[in-house]
Amino acid sequence: MPRCFSWAGHRLPILTCVPCTGDAAGRPCSPSSPSSHAAETSMSLRHRGDGSGSVAGRAARKFTLEQLSAATDGFSASNLLGQGGFGRVYRCHLRLDDDDDEAAAPTPVAVKQLCRGGAQGSREFVVECAMLMTLRHPNLVALVGYCAQAQERLLVYELLPRGSLDAHLFRPLPAQGNGDRPALEWNTRVKIAHGAARALRYLHEAVSPPVIYRDLKPSNILLADDFTAKLSDLGLARMGPSGDDTHVSTRVMGTLGYCAPDYALTGRLTVKSDVYSFGVVLLELITGRRAFDPDAGDERRLLDWARPYLGDVRKMYGRLADPALRGRFPRRALYQLAVVASLCLHDRPNLRPTMSDVTRAIDHVASQPWQTHHRAKSCQI
Ligand SMILES: Nc1ncnc2c1ncn2[C@@H]1O[C@H](COP(=O)(O)OP(=O)(O)OP(=O)(O)O)[C@@H](O)[C@H]1O
Ligand SMILES: [Mg+2]
Repeated sequence: MPRCFSWAGHRLPILTCVPCTGDAAGRPCSPSSPSSHAAETSMSLRHRGDGSGSVAGRAARKFTLEQLSAATDGFSASNLLGQGGFGRVYRCHLRLDDDDDEAAAPTPVAVKQLCRGGAQGSREFVVECAMLMTLRHPNLVALVGYCAQAQERLLVYELLPRGSLDAHLFRPLPAQGNGDRPALEWNTRVKIAHGAARALRYLHEAVSPPVIYRDLKPSNILLADDFTAKLSDLGLARMGPSGDDTHVSTRVMGTLGYCAPDYALTGRLTVKSDVYSFGVVLLELITGRRAFDPDAGDERRLLDWARPYLGDVRKMYGRLADPALRGRFPRRALYQLAVVASLCLHDRPNLRPTMSDVTRAIDHVASQPWQTHHRAKSCQI
C-alpha cells in the first residue's frame, strides 16, 4: 500500500523532517537523540486523565546493534515478521535488565529495522521514540527500547503474538494447528474496534494538546493473545492544535483509502481526520473488504461500494456484512456499528463524532454480543 499517493491530481510530497513539537518551519530533528525529544514531548504533553493511561516521560533501553543482530540471528529471514514502508520487523528474544530471574525465559520482542539513511525513517524514528516514551495506554504498543548506531535506526517493541489485524481480516488461514488464522468472529471484531477506539480517545482527549495518530489502518492495529488491539507506528503522529486553534497545517501523509478527504485536499489536520480513518477501519471490520483494493475493478474503493448501503443503512445494512461471518452476528448490533461508521465518514469533519462518542457507542454494541442461540434469526439475512 503506497504511503505517498496522488489525490485529485496532486502528487503528494515526500515527508521532510518536521519536529513533533509542531515547528512549522520544518527544523530538522536529530535522529540520534530520541531521549531529548521524548523529554521535550513529555514536557509539552499533559495528561487529562481517563483513568487508563498516562503521560510518563521515561527512558527506553538503549541496545547496541550487536545485541539486536545476535538476537535476530543477523536479521535472518526466518525471524521476519513483516515488512512495511519504513523497514522490516523481526521477532526475537532479549534478556532485559529487569528480567531479574536468570532462569526465566527472555522477553519476546519485535525489532523494527528502519530503512537505512531514509529521511522518512529518521524522522519516524525520533517521533515514534518520543511518543512511545511519553504516552502509555493499554491499547498502545509499548516501546521496549531503541538502537541508534552509525546509520542504523531500530525500534524494539513488545511482541504482539497475533500480528496485525490486516492479516486476520484479509488473509485468514484455515485452522490447521499452529499458525492458523480463522476468519474473525463478530465479538472479536467488536473487541478490536473497541480497543482501537479507546487508544484514539486517549490520544485525542486524555492528552493535552491532543495527539493526532494520522495512520490508522489494519496493519497498524496489532493483536495480543486475547485479541486486545494495540496501535503501533506512532511515527506519523502529530501534536494537534492548542488554545483557540482548530487545526494544524501539515503536509498530507497517510495511506490511500484511509485519509480524510478534507485533510487530503487542504492539509488541515484535526482529530476528526483520525475519526474518519476509524470509520474506514470500522467498515473494513464489518465488510471484510479492503479500503482500497487495486484488483477489485469498479469496487476497488470500499467507500464507493458501500455508499448505497450507507445511504440507507436501516434497510441495507445486511448487505454490508462480511460473508465470512456466515450470518453469525446480532443484526441490531451490526446495524448500530454501520451507523457509527457512516457518522465517522461524514464529509464535514465537524459533524463527525468525537472518539468519546464513538467509544460509548461501541460499548453499547459490545453489550449485545453474538450468542449461539441468535443463530437461527441472524442467518435469515
Ligand atoms: N510489535 C509487533 N508485534 C508483532 N508483529 C509486529 C509488531 N510490529 C510489527 N509487526 C508486524 O510487522 C508487519 C510490518 O509492520 P510495519 O509497521 O513495518 O509495516 P506496515 O504496518 O505493514 O506498513 P506501514 O509501513 O505502512 O506502517 C506488521 O504488519 C505486523 O505484522
Ligand atoms: Mg505499520
